[in-house]
Amino acid sequence: MKRILVKNIGRIVGIERRGRLRICGEEMDRLETLDDAWLLCDEGRITAFGRMDEMPPIEVKQVIDAGGGMLFPSFCDSHTHLVYAGSREQEFLDKIHGLSYEEIARRGGGILNSADLLHNTSEEELYRQAMERIREITAMGTGCVEIKSGYGLSTEDELKMLRVIRRIRQTTPLEVRATFLGAHAVARDYRGRQDEYVDLICREMIPAVATENLADFIDVFCDEGFFTVEQTARIIQTGARFGMKAKIHANELAVSGGVQVGVEHRALSVDHLERMGEEEIRVLSGSTTMPTMLPGAAFFLGMSYPPARQMIDSGLAVALASDYNPGSSPSGNMRMVMALASFRMKMTPAEAIHAATINGACAMGLSRDFGSITEGKVANFFLTKPMPSVEYFTYAYQTPLIERVFLRGKEIVV
Ligand code: NIG
Ligand code: FE
Repeated sequence: MKRILVKNIGRIVGIERRGRLRICGEEMDRLETLDDAWLLCDEGRITAFGRMDEMPPIEVKQVIDAGGGMLFPSFCDSHTHLVYAGSREQEFLDKIHGLSYEEIARRGGGILNSADLLHNTSEEELYRQAMERIREITAMGTGCVEIKSGYGLSTEDELKMLRVIRRIRQTTPLEVRATFLGAHAVARDYRGRQDEYVDLICREMIPAVATENLADFIDVFCDEGFFTVEQTARIIQTGARFGMKAKIHANELAVSGGVQVGVEHRALSVDHLERMGEEEIRVLSGSTTMPTMLPGAAFFLGMSYPPARQMIDSGLAVALASDYNPGSSPSGNMRMVMALASFRMKMTPAEAIHAATINGACAMGLSRDFGSITEGKVANFFLTKPMPSVEYFTYAYQTPLIERVFLRGKEIVV
């Protein structure tokens, strides 16, 4: 009997009714909670919850006393590049000394630097490094994570990355989704022959990835200095033929047309969105594509932040993700992401929680089973120290408040 009962929960946060797959517009600020509560899990799913003073007699082997702390659904981080080799603090110094992200990329640094490092790192070592990051994000409350390839940039090295992601998926209790991002940058050998590189992606890489069934999604860095709208369309159409849904890096460096091409091809999400016009918001309004913001990258690169307020106020659902990567966001801390969303983008803590949980799950096609406290959903949640309010969790953003982590109904020692 794998039943566990959590009792003396000061407040359950993020309760949703079944069947609600995303939270839009003004609804995002309405966070459903329950005070003085208990919660029951069976076989890794949430089976019931209620108020302590109405708790029926329940027989279980394991009882967890939450000691008055709060219970939150685990974060669903829908955009990361957490499989990478080494680190890039040299470029961080270059940035301090005045170079921009684009200038570093043009000098052959940036993504190409990570590709060289990855090429010279064994699959085993890559897995070891990535698992350290997985342990780190698990302790910080993440329960579902999307991980991209894109530091391989050759068929062989892209497959190497994706095999590492598959191994992570098989060996952690986190729910993992894999995205093929061969179009992250033009490989060094193809410099000046960008269309030929796109040919390689479409004719060789995508079929190879599909043969081994290594990717759920396909992504393109559709931005100034990277891939054009036409190249993006070609790559995601090819991916679609092999069953991969699109998630696009769009509008980070310029108003790139990335949002439009994503929406037109029914992308699951368009991500970044630091450069947005009215038109982009209008296009998103008629679609099911999830606009996903990565304020950790804007923070690290000193860029302007996405217009979150405008998007939510026009009725859109939005998601927040960490973008955990060595070049623009070397952190997978979703509490920090929520704090930045509140401090810099004027999202309320309630909006940020929805964006980092159920809407993030939706951006991975997972919100039927993850992202909220709902009967029948997978029992992914964490317990906090007792707190005076839900807002305190964002406000005291550096205080280690997460005490215990549960994934698939089992406590994870972190
Ligand atoms: O999402 N924008 C493109 N890709 C990453 C950065 C990757 C890197 O610099 O290594 C991002 O910010
Ligand atoms: Fe990214």
